[in-house]
Amino acid sequence: MTVPALEAEKISKTFGDLHAVEDLSLSVNEGDIFGFIGPNGAGKTTSIRMMLGLIEPSAGSARIFGKDIHRDFKNAISAVGALVEGPAFYPYMSGRRNLRLFGRLSGGVTEDRINEVLQMVGLGRRGDHKVKGYSQGMRQRLGIALALLNRPRLLILDEPTNGLDPGARTRMLKLIKEMKDDHGMNVVLCSHLLRDVEETCDEVVILKDGVIVH
Ligand SMILES: Nc1ncnc2c1ncn2[C@@H]1O[C@H](COP(=O)(O)OP(=O)(O)O)[C@@H](O)[C@H]1O
Ligand SMILES: [Mg+2]
Repeated sequence: MTVPALEAEKISKTFGDLHAVEDLSLSVNEGDIFGFIGPNGAGKTTSIRMMLGLIEPSAGSARIFGKDIHRDFKNAISAVGALVEGPAFYPYMSGRRNLRLFGRLSGGVTEDRINEVLQMVGLGRRGDHKVKGYSQGMRQRLGIALALLNRPRLLILDEPTNGLDPGARTRMLKLIKEMKDDHGMNVVLCSHLLRDVEETCDEVVILKDGVIVH
């Protein structure tokens, strides 16, 4: 049996007396595009943050390819790339320079890899333009390029279609499918739009008021 790409076991998060996420369990199989949907405020981002070790769960645990995100953070996090609520890029630098800068922070990122990820997200010809001239869709795609830099096996995308016009949204969903079909990535697609996941995902979980309703 293969190890799930991502697993959560009864994770919960409370903020004061608000139960943002309650007893959430899920398992993302290798090779799937997994849809994680629910209206705004449902607890999607909070769940993702817990699964990425960005915030401490009030209870429960999460594993990435079998590695516990809290007990074995370094190994667990090395297998995942994430776009959570749009990264902040330096607007007066090119997309390529931004990637170089962030790549230097994590280390081991070559110029070849930067070219490769720019190609993968369809920014091959725009990589040397300043980010301030990028559309929202291009910024989101640069965010995905950043998430891909360290060759993760699992990609977690939190609302990657947010703020995109219909054309850009369609291109984004196509890109996500390519991540799986052409690059063999496991993808978790988080969205408040049911139609995003209907068109793209192999499996879907629906979250409402912090609990899975489907
Ligand atoms: N740091 C925080 N402090 C207090 N409440 C928070 C915090 N983060 C999220 N929440 C609350 O938790 C609930 C779930 O939020 P969130 O996970 O962002 O939902 P979603 O991503 O599904 O829109 C919301 O009611 C939100 O206001
Ligand atoms: Mg959110």
